[in-house]
Amino acid sequence: MTIIRVALIGMGVVGKYFFAALKQSPNFKIVAICDKKNDISETSCSFYRSYQELCADEVVMKSVDAAIICLPNHLHVLCAQDFLSKGKHVLCEKPLCFTIADAAMLQVLANERHLTLMTAFHRRYNFHFKKFHEAIDEPIKVIHARYLENIKQHSDSDWYLYNAKSGGGCVIDNGSNVFDLIRLLVGEISIERAYMGGYAGENESHAYIDFSFKTGRGTIELDWNFDGECKDISVYTANKSHHADLIAETKHDIRTVNFKGSLWHEYEDCIRDFYEHVIGKISFDNEDVVRCVNQCYTEAKQN
Ligand SMILES: NC(=O)c1ccc[n+]([C@@H]2O[C@H](COP(=O)([O-])OP(=O)(O)OC[C@H]3O[C@@H](n4cnc5c(N)ncnc54)[C@H](O)[C@@H]3O)[C@@H](O)[C@H]2O)c1
Repeated sequence: MTIIRVALIGMGVVGKYFFAALKQSPNFKIVAICDKKNDISETSCSFYRSYQELCADEVVMKSVDAAIICLPNHLHVLCAQDFLSKGKHVLCEKPLCFTIADAAMLQVLANERHLTLMTAFHRRYNFHFKKFHEAIDEPIKVIHARYLENIKQHSDSDWYLYNAKSGGGCVIDNGSNVFDLIRLLVGEISIERAYMGGYAGENESHAYIDFSFKTGRGTIELDWNFDGECKDISVYTANKSHHADLIAETKHDIRTVNFKGSLWHEYEDCIRDFYEHVIGKISFDNEDVVRCVNQCYTEAKQN
């Protein structure tokens, strides 16, 4: 069996879920970790304060097959570009980047080198979503998705509040995951209207998005200032309705009773899927979600 040797870049909130998933997988070995401030109690790998420092270490880089990027959003492009240029596969947290041009540039880099470039859309591996998706057996006419939470519970870091570092508010952050799920359900979508408002630092804190697709229409509600947590999707076909509560407690994984609890099983499946993409040389569409997010910001400016 091929083992993929990984550099884990960023050990903040989400890096720790990847770390736990990688440690229990027989398919991966962590060979290097980078974080600007967090120390880790992992002694069997090399540790760096920046990814540039790791990239410059030619000896260790020889033993790296792939990078998993869990840095603040504005660092994704440069970091992914550096690792792809050095011939490494990349699994990058969402959003991959802020612009369609950057998404295309990274994809070209990956394609030229026959490397996997994959965005970690972790919600597509959600147990409730997968069950819900499998049960839909007719063309979808209507979709309603909600992703409501309080950004203060997201992370102790404040970079989410600064536009140059985050690229936006709830739309680029949570919208990226929601667009990915909707695309899995109905394929390509077109943004019809996007209304945004509120303030979370320099960014929008809520949004209401209307979209259409081949067989129907839908709405998305996003909120970063919600008092609690609500993440769900409802779909309506000609004869049925289906509902998925993405954060419902489930016996599938006892850890899901906590905020972010579902992330444990989602990241376990995320790295499994990354492995299959790398080994099977399967391509991954990173660009369309970036297009959806960008269309929302463009559309909202016109309202
Ligand atoms: N927090 C969540 O619930 C969550 C969920 C899914 C995806 N994400 C995504 O994961 C990514 C990281 O988010 P987070 O919440 O874990 O952020 P975070 O701030 O908690 O973690 C980021 C880590 O990167 C480190 N870092 C910053 N600059 C660095 C540099 N130049 N070199 C090395 N390390 C550096 C920081 O020290 C920090 O530990 C984001 O893209 C976010 O959208 C977050």
